[in-house]
Amino acid sequence: MNQSSKTSFDFLAPYYDRLARIVFGKHIVNVQLDLLSELRANDKVLIVGGGTGWILPEIFDRYPAIQVTYVEASPKMVAQAKAKLDLELHSQVQFVVATHQIVKEQSIYDAVITFFFLDVLQESEQSDAIQKLGGALKKGGKWLLADFQLRKGVHFIWQWVLLQLMLFFFKITSNLHITRLPSFENLFDQHEYKHEVLRTYFAGMIFGKSLKKL
Ligand SMILES: C[S@@+](CC[C@H](N)C(=O)[O-])C[C@H]1O[C@@H](n2cnc3c(N)ncnc32)[C@H](O)[C@@H]1O
Repeated sequence: MNQSSKTSFDFLAPYYDRLARIVFGKHIVNVQLDLLSELRANDKVLIVGGGTGWILPEIFDRYPAIQVTYVEASPKMVAQAKAKLDLELHSQVQFVVATHQIVKEQSIYDAVITFFFLDVLQESEQSDAIQKLGGALKKGGKWLLADFQLRKGVHFIWQWVLLQLMLFFFKITSNLHITRLPSFENLFDQHEYKHEVLRTYFAGMIFGKSLKKL
């Protein structure tokens, strides 16, 4: 059975942002805000797994004319995202309560945003998701990606422990059965995407990347 159909972030929706900020502080926010500089004024943007939507007002503050399709599996997360958005901006956002599987490979978006989303997919779903969301992106469009990573080095042990705690927490609160992070380098084929921007945060455990579709 498809894992995402059983997983739900509904329970966490009221607490998610606060918890994320308690654990990761400003880093979990800054990695996302910093990547917004990759967008352009009139972009058509696909956001998948956007959570509570705190990023939406930030996007519209910077780019008032942008058009957004917001695909998010949790109805409670989408309700929060709608509530965060000024009424006059609702015509610029299409909210879709569904999983990423609803996205069509029609190359209509200038940018795809997946912030801390790919890591909640099962390994068996990841390459399909890349194929699908990449298929929705125009040639020359940008994929803005923020996520966790584990790198060998002095910080490895505490970051590994923190990751295990997070995975356990998501298992009991969201029925998410993930045992390791995606291998992002392998998922994004070097022939299809040019890696343009890479920034790291939180002693390297968080990264933000902009990939250009070739
Ligand atoms: C870890 S949260 C990240 C939320 C937000 N991007 C952030 O960084 O604050 C992952 C989000 O992805 C949503 N999600 C999980 N599986 C999904 C899927 N297959 N398609 C769309 N959204 C999904 C969850 O409901 C949740 O809101």
